[in-house]
Amino acid sequence: MKIAESIHRILSREDLVTDLFYLTYFERYPDLKQQFDGVDMDQQAVLLRMALTVIHQYHEYGYPAAEQYLLVLGRKHSLRNIPEELYADWRDCMLDTLERYFEHEWNTELEDEWTNAINKATDVMCRGYEEFAINRLRN
Ligand code: HEM
Repeated sequence: MKIAESIHRILSREDLVTDLFYLTYFERYPDLKQQFDGVDMDQQAVLLRMALTVIHQYHEYGYPAAEQYLLVLGRKHSLRNIPEELYADWRDCMLDTLERYFEHEWNTELEDEWTNAINKATDVMCRGYEEFAINRLRN
């Protein structure tokens, strides 16, 4: 299976891979739960699933629209004071979640593709932490 097929499956299924992600994430990092105080986690899982499609689109097609979304997403995380250092653990937790979700269909090729895609996305998000990157969107 390639990354495009995996995202197709993620979007087609009724259950949310991202529900499983947050379960795993808070099990691993209980202290981070407080960052989400007051956040509706059902809605959050829906938003994160759609963000996975943007991560895929930026990886596969390099769309400027996807890049701009990721810049804005980075900006939102910077305003929430989420340290950039958390992104590597976030990525590893997402990879483990995808492995559990896809079970025997998961393989190293797919893992490499998703690793690459998430790394590229978090690079852009981290650029979004800098004010000038967001200002550029307006010019
Ligand atoms: C590649 C990494 C990440 C992606 C793709 C991602 C994705 C998202 C998305 C799509 C949203 C919703 C934004 C919106 O309301 O429009 C969000 C919000 C949020 N994320 Fe992340 N996130 C990432 C990493 C992290 C990390 C490491 C943390 C730290 C624990 C975090 C904490 C939050 C919080 C607290 C919110 C705010 C929820 C709210 O205000 O309703 N995120 N994230």
